[in-house]
Amino acid sequence: MDKKELIAVTINFVKETLRGAEGGHDWYHIERVYENAKLIAKGEDVDTFIVELGALLHDIADAKFHEGDETIGPKKAADFLRKMKVEEEIIDHIQNIIKYVSFKTSLDTEDQSKFESNELKVIQDADRLDALGAIGIARAFNYGGYKNRSLYDPKVPPLVNQDKESYKNSQAPTINHFYEKLLLLKDKMNTKTGRNLAQKRHEFMQTYLNQFYDEWNGIR
Ligand code: ADP
Ligand code: NI
Repeated sequence: MDKKELIAVTINFVKETLRGAEGGHDWYHIERVYENAKLIAKGEDVDTFIVELGALLHDIADAKFHEGDETIGPKKAADFLRKMKVEEEIIDHIQNIIKYVSFKTSLDTEDQSKFESNELKVIQDADRLDALGAIGIARAFNYGGYKNRSLYDPKVPPLVNQDKESYKNSQAPTINHFYEKLLLLKDKMNTKTGRNLAQKRHEFMQTYLNQFYDEWNGIR
C-alpha cells in the first residue's frame, strides 16, 4: 500500500472508530488537527507522512473515555498499523506521539522517559490550537457538560500548577479549565506558526472571559 492509500484507509478507520464520540473529540476534531498539522508542517523540518498519520491517530482512544487507561490509544493505533503492514519503526514513532501529545503527560514529573521529535511538536501545536479560541471554548463547555460540571462557581478558585493526578481527577467548573490549561497553552507552543496562530485565539478567549464575568455580575 503506498502512503497516499494508507492515509485514506486511516481516515476511514478513524471516522469509523470515533463514530458517536463526544463533540470535542470526534472526527471533526481530528480533521481540524490534521489540517492544521499539515499547515504547520510546511514551516518545519519533518516527515509529513508521520505528521499526517500521527495527527489522524492521536485521539484514537483517549484515556479520558476509557477508564483512564493510557495504554489503549497507542495499542489500538499499533494494532491497526501492523495490520496495514507499516514498518515497526514508524509504528513506534506513532505510539510515542500518541502517548506524549497530551497536556496531562506534560504534567507528569515522574516520567523520565521523555520523548521528543519534530513531528510530535507539530501535532502537539495543532492539537493545542484546537483547544483555543472559539472552538476551544465550545469544546471545553461540551466536555464540561458531558461530565456534568457546572459552568462557573465563584466559590471554587482555579488551581494552577496542578500535578497530573489532580488535573486528571478535577471536578471543577468548566471556567476553571481556562486557567488550569487553556490560557497556559500559548506559552507552550513549539513552532513559530503555532505560536502566531495561538496568539489570536488566546486574545479571543480573554475577551470572552471578560464578557462572561460582566454578564455574570450584571454589568451589560
Ligand atoms: P488532556 O486530557 O491531556 O488535557 P486533551 O488534549 O485530551 O488533553 O484535552 C482536550 C480537550 O478536552 C481540552 O482542550 C478541553 O476542550 C477538553 N477538556 C479536557 N479536560 C477538561 C476539563 N476539565 N474541563 C473542560 N474541558 C476539558
Ligand atoms: Ni486531540
